[in-house]
Amino acid sequence: MSPATQIATTANLFSPIKIGNVLLNHRVVMAPLTRLRTTKTSAVLKVVKEYYSQRASTPGTFLISEGTVISPRATGFQPCAPGIWSDEQIAAWKEVVDAVHAKGSYILVYPCGDLHLAWLRVPTQYWREETCLRVWEVIREVVICRPFKKVWQDIPKVVIHRPFKNVSQVNATVIYITEIEEANSEPFTLTSTLISRGWYPGLIEKGNEGGDCAQLSYDLTYDVVGAGDIPMAEGEVPRPMTVGEIQASIGDFVQAATNAVHKAGFDGVELHGAYGFLIDQFIQDVSNNRTDKYGGSIENRARFALEVVDAVAKAVGEDKTAIRFSPWTRDRDMGMKNPIPTFTYLISQLKEKQPNLAYLHLIQSRDLDDPKQSNENFFDLWSPRPLIVADGFTREKALNFAERDGALIAFGKRFISNPDLPLRLKADLPLSEYDRSSFYGGDESGKGYIDYAFASK
Ligand SMILES: Cc1cc2nc3c(=O)[nH]c(=O)nc-3n(C[C@H](O)[C@H](O)[C@H](O)COP(=O)(O)O)c2cc1C
Repeated sequence: MSPATQIATTANLFSPIKIGNVLLNHRVVMAPLTRLRTTKTSAVLKVVKEYYSQRASTPGTFLISEGTVISPRATGFQPCAPGIWSDEQIAAWKEVVDAVHAKGSYILVYPCGDLHLAWLRVPTQYWREETCLRVWEVIREVVICRPFKKVWQDIPKVVIHRPFKNVSQVNATVIYITEIEEANSEPFTLTSTLISRGWYPGLIEKGNEGGDCAQLSYDLTYDVVGAGDIPMAEGEVPRPMTVGEIQASIGDFVQAATNAVHKAGFDGVELHGAYGFLIDQFIQDVSNNRTDKYGGSIENRARFALEVVDAVAKAVGEDKTAIRFSPWTRDRDMGMKNPIPTFTYLISQLKEKQPNLAYLHLIQSRDLDDPKQSNENFFDLWSPRPLIVADGFTREKALNFAERDGALIAFGKRFISNPDLPLRLKADLPLSEYDRSSFYGGDESGKGYIDYAFASK
């Protein structure tokens, strides 16, 4: 027996585990991965079915979907992210779920709210005029980031918008103008006009064609709101949500979860409580400066998260509900000085109030070896209940970590480039490299999306 086969037959990583009501064959999980392949009405493209089906190819694999927007008013995050509020979106997701089930695997939806364009941020380097000029000269197209509210409809011939190549660095609604008549083309004039209205030119790289989500399908006239009124570095100051809006948002999470589980057939719901998205905004003091019962003390900041979990669990079942947190990450200007007390309280409450919660998902600090940014306290607190951890795992680290009770390991980038990742890890086969340029945005051709090779083919 080869050493790899020996490991594979004895290691926890490759042994079955029950999560909620599903029995998995191994503990290699696909992390939520936003890929921005949607129609103009925010339904996943047809090619998305093939993508998830490929990654479900090892029977008994557990997949978490990409961030899926809960309602039209929660679309601040990205115009090309899929939704799960309309019949069309639900039907498109159902095809994906059915394809995953046909492979003997499981998939949870990953609903997210980033309400009303809240907390958008456009780093200044992306909206300098020379950037716009350069883009114009090179490809005669202009990209406009739209971090602020106010209408876009009155801008003539703004017809197509596409994601940035690297959306994670931009976090803004992006408008991609392609139909400006050349005779009238005065990009600076146009740009200046747009800037004066709160529009900013951005950077695009030629060749990132994006998908059909190119046309805005939701109403952009919502206010920019957030947990508090602390803006991101260059973002608009959000209006703190009213208690009525908070309740409505909980209702949106419940509706999205219900649509996902009861209509599209998802095996459950992992709530997006990470990376500065809405739930995380409420949890952390760097984004929540409210003085009512949803802000201030740890108990108050944790309230929204706990209420969403509770409401969703009631709607779809506790054993079909989970949540993801990122106590240490700095994305979207997040990152409390000391997140331990807040997340200790939150996790203790979840443990006590939701004894059958499917699992807890924690994102590691980028610096896995930094003892000051350790999730160890949280692991101990939650143990021995099912726990998924993510960020920076290699095969070796995953093998080690999975020896803990109830631990599963989520892989992100490696699952993008290795559709048969569980099989490759088990057999210790070489892993394919990923191409960052096709992470975000794409069309039905599936280029950079479904064309990563299987080891076995
Ligand atoms: C292209 C891409 C998209 C991602 N989208 C999301 C997302 O929508 N929500 C989220 O919580 N994490 C997202 N992540 C983070 C992953 O879930 C995961 O935590 C991260 O990739 C670290 O794991 P890795 O080192 O195995 O890649 C994304 C990561 C990548 C590379």
